[in-house]
Amino acid sequence: MEIVILVSLLSLYCDFTDAECLVVSPARLVVKHGDPASSNCSSDTPVEMGWEATQGGAGLTDNKVKILNWKVDSLTDWNSKPTCFTEGGQCQKQLNITVYKLPDRVSISYRKYPDPMVEGHQYLLQCLVQNIAPIGRLRVTFYKVSATGEQTELDTQQKSKDNIKTPENGTYTLDFTPGRDDDGAQLLCSAMLDLGPEGPQPPPVMDSNRLNTNVHYKPQITSPGCFSMSITEGDTLSLNCSANGNPAPSYDWLLPHADPNTMEERSVVTITNMAKSHSGNYTCFARNPLGNSTCTVNVEVTVNYLPIIAGLTAAVVVILLVSCFIYSWPPHRAWFLSRFLPRFWPF
Ligand SMILES: *[C@@H]1O[C@H](CO)[C@@H](O)[C@H](O)[C@H]1NC(C)=O
Ligand SMILES: *[C@@H]1O[C@H](CO)[C@@H](O)[C@H](O)[C@H]1NC(C)=O
Ligand SMILES: *[C@@H]1O[C@H](CO)[C@@H](O)[C@H](O)[C@H]1NC(C)=O
Ligand SMILES: *[C@@H]1O[C@H](CO)[C@@H](O)[C@H](O)[C@H]1NC(C)=O
Ligand SMILES: *[C@@H]1O[C@H](CO)[C@@H](O)[C@H](O)[C@H]1NC(C)=O
Ligand SMILES: *[C@@H]1O[C@H](CO)[C@@H](O)[C@H](O)[C@H]1NC(C)=O
Repeated sequence: MEIVILVSLLSLYCDFTDAECLVVSPARLVVKHGDPASSNCSSDTPVEMGWEATQGGAGLTDNKVKILNWKVDSLTDWNSKPTCFTEGGQCQKQLNITVYKLPDRVSISYRKYPDPMVEGHQYLLQCLVQNIAPIGRLRVTFYKVSATGEQTELDTQQKSKDNIKTPENGTYTLDFTPGRDDDGAQLLCSAMLDLGPEGPQPPPVMDSNRLNTNVHYKPQITSPGCFSMSITEGDTLSLNCSANGNPAPSYDWLLPHADPNTMEERSVVTITNMAKSHSGNYTCFARNPLGNSTCTVNVEVTVNYLPIIAGLTAAVVVILLVSCFIYSWPPHRAWFLSRFLPRFWPF
């Protein structure tokens, strides 16, 4: 019981001494470098007080006052720590100030080797933020904006340099390995200065220039594809070879029974009136300086027997009809018999 009372008394005493002491309001300021700043120091009972500061400082007041204002028209000291004090330094309170400065410039670049970018190679992206304070509050995000406008966050970085208050240049780096889908995309970095609830809302953001990417990659045949087909004799064969690739690929067709050293330099093969001898493998080569891609179409030429069968059938029918006609007409029969049979017919 005694202990509880003692503790209660003790806390009451502490509250009392706290209340007796100075109150700085606002206790925290976030000020843009060069802007005005102001805060009040107050006491419940009138006291002689002063402000110790590199800018806007004031010595002890001649009279006892309950409130003393600290004010500067243009805050330029990066390490400003205005402190309100009473006579003899019995009590003092420091105003918590953050002086900030937005970056002069945010830029993105990459180590250009090989240039332009090549699929699968690793590149070092570098985001440079010039003349920013305080650098510990800066968050840098790398973004990729695809050719279709879709934005993807690649990485966010922040430096733990809370003790640095003067402007700094910040370099942020990221390894980037482009794929073929990244051709035509844009890269950028965005610097956001997050100064907390006392800072400007929403937190100021500054974007870098946009880096256009030109990604080189080896061809990949998209059509006609690698397959087997059959075509009827006499029909027209048309094969159009096309591939994705950067730089744009060039095409060659290797035709069946052709010397592998003599390729047709074009993307389309057209053969009218296909013959059996045109059967075989038709191979397309798509190439650019980064490599090549091939696809073989196996073509089988089939003979169409239907017209032949129909023709033969018609011929047989005609012959039969003619024979019957001749044979069924007596004069003809006689003529026929006399003309063709006497030599073999003994009557
Ligand atoms: C300081 O106190 C004065 C008088 O009460 C008031 O007018 C002023 O707005 C206060 N300044 C700040 C920064 O709170
Ligand atoms: C100033 O205020 C910030 C944010 O509330 C806090 O993180 C920091 O520690 C304070 N600095 C001092 C010296 O009290
Ligand atoms: C930041 O970079 C700029 C331009 O390169 C330079 O003029 C300036 O001195 C640098 N500042 C610091 C703090 O290194
Ligand atoms: C071949 O295909 C490509 C892509 O599909 C097309 O642009 C081109 O016009 C075609 N060429 C011919 C001769 O059909
Ligand atoms: C065509 O290529 C296939 C393999 O892709 C092979 O098996 C076949 O023998 C080739 N045909 C001719 C006629 O060369
Ligand atoms: C295709 O590329 C391969 C290596 O990927 C190479 O060995 C071959 O000679 C190339 N062929 C042609 C026809 O360029």
